[in-house]
Amino acid sequence: MPTADTVNTIAVLGAGQMGGGIAQIAATSGIDAICYDVQQASLDKAKALHEKLMARAVEKGRMERGDADSALQRIVYTTNWDDMGEADWVVEAATERADLKHEIFVKLAQTFENPSVVLATNTSSISITQIGASAESGRSGAGERVIGMHFFNPVPVMKLVEVIKGLTTTEDVTQRTIDLAVRMGKDPHAANDRAGFVSNRVLMPMINEAFYAWMEGVSEPEDIDAIMTKGMAHPMGPFRLADFIGLDTCVHIMDVLAEGLNNDRYRACPLLKNLVTAGRLGNKTGRGVFDYAK
Ligand SMILES: NC(=O)c1ccc[n+]([C@@H]2O[C@H](COP(=O)([O-])OP(=O)(O)OC[C@H]3O[C@@H](n4cnc5c(N)ncnc54)[C@H](O)[C@@H]3O)[C@@H](O)[C@H]2O)c1
Repeated sequence: MPTADTVNTIAVLGAGQMGGGIAQIAATSGIDAICYDVQQASLDKAKALHEKLMARAVEKGRMERGDADSALQRIVYTTNWDDMGEADWVVEAATERADLKHEIFVKLAQTFENPSVVLATNTSSISITQIGASAESGRSGAGERVIGMHFFNPVPVMKLVEVIKGLTTTEDVTQRTIDLAVRMGKDPHAANDRAGFVSNRVLMPMINEAFYAWMEGVSEPEDIDAIMTKGMAHPMGPFRLADFIGLDTCVHIMDVLAEGLNNDRYRACPLLKNLVTAGRLGNKTGRGVFDYAK
């Protein structure tokens, strides 16, 4: 069985903010990356960002020009599914929709016949066991090589990779995923497949509680954020962080926790839901809890 050291080419499926970052760190770790997306616009944006970030790294003396050029040359951008065929590892980072992940993993299992090719997903909330079952329905045995490889945003900066084993994931696939994350310069930590894994199981209820505190008039967002940054040494307060993640994503993850853990204490705060209904989704729409137009 190939080891993490022998991975030559990673196919990154979905070239949005996460997929683009994953392709970038693969390339800077000496691994070829095939960036696949259904939207040419996402690929163009990812390519422009890669060029900008590498140029900045050279400018700041964090990277040699030759290394930056080689890394950029290691990334190909494509809307053609078949171009991924040569990869020996896949990281799926497409839009967070269970129906879409199902469709993608059926097709990945059919495309990647070689049982040594790991089919990883960067999902932040969807069950790995469920995604494994999708792969299994595409090809018998493929569920064993499906695993959660959960990077954090922004990928080139954040050290953590949460490695999530589904019910059918083998120990060998888990170990190889941990090894590959280390090769990509990350600190991996393993978790089992329960709703929200570890990161969102712990983080999201805290963010949700901050919305309750605001709704009940305990304090205002600026003060709540200041209390959490100055008193608990959090680098960002819960509202700043929620705006960065996207308030719609926060509601989505709370829904997954409430359903998956079958407990109403994980219901999204009505005030958080109202902001989403009003289109105030955070940084990406220019306004969430805070106003970024100012
Ligand atoms: N944003 C975060 O902070 C964060 C953190 C960790 C994990 N994630 C997870 O990473 C994944 C991607 O999130 P994102 O924030 O990069 O989203 P995004 O919206 O920035 O990018 C998603 C990309 O997927 C593409 N896509 C849609 N359907 C596709 C298909 N069938 N095949 C290939 N590409 C397709 C879209 O065109 C888009 O470019 C999600 O599963 C999300 O839960 C996100």
